[in-house]
Amino acid sequence: MNIIYKIISNFINNKSLYIGEKVTMSEHMIQSAMIAEKAKSSNSLVCASLLHDYGHFLVKDPNKLVKKELDGKHEDMGYEYLKKFFKKDVVEPIKYHVLAKRYLARNKKYYNLLSNASRVSLKLQGGTFNKKESNEFEKIPFFKNTIKLRKFDELAKKTNVKMKSINEYKDLLNSQLL
Ligand SMILES: [Fe+2]
Repeated sequence: MNIIYKIISNFINNKSLYIGEKVTMSEHMIQSAMIAEKAKSSNSLVCASLLHDYGHFLVKDPNKLVKKELDGKHEDMGYEYLKKFFKKDVVEPIKYHVLAKRYLARNKKYYNLLSNASRVSLKLQGGTFNKKESNEFEKIPFFKNTIKLRKFDELAKKTNVKMKSINEYKDLLNSQLL
């Protein structure tokens, strides 16, 4: 099956809630892309936002992972799969979006904005970075877009938002293929 059709059908068929939140995984990712568009982001960043948690669709039972207090490593799964199809500018920020939370959590204000579920997962992912780890992190490619993606991600958990359909992103997805 064509990758774009596969992604679109995953979005349409997935009804599972984003772990600990009130929106579905599909709604969460579409909201992330909508926020990226509102911030006048590049197409690659909008696409990264739209696909940032795609790894969750590749895990059979994502809820089970959290119940068992295991880290699903969804960012690695998503990255490994998507890099076969999409440009580096799209997949690199996806790979690092979880680590970006550990970077940003050094800022008290940012930490206080995190939802409870997000604080639990931060702990599971290794907690806040120290100074040395933060300095290293600033050297990754696409650092700025990775940080932006993380911020869009945190904002994209609202209910009662008028949602775009995944089909409206078909051209954008196609434009970011390798
Ligand atoms: Fe997310």
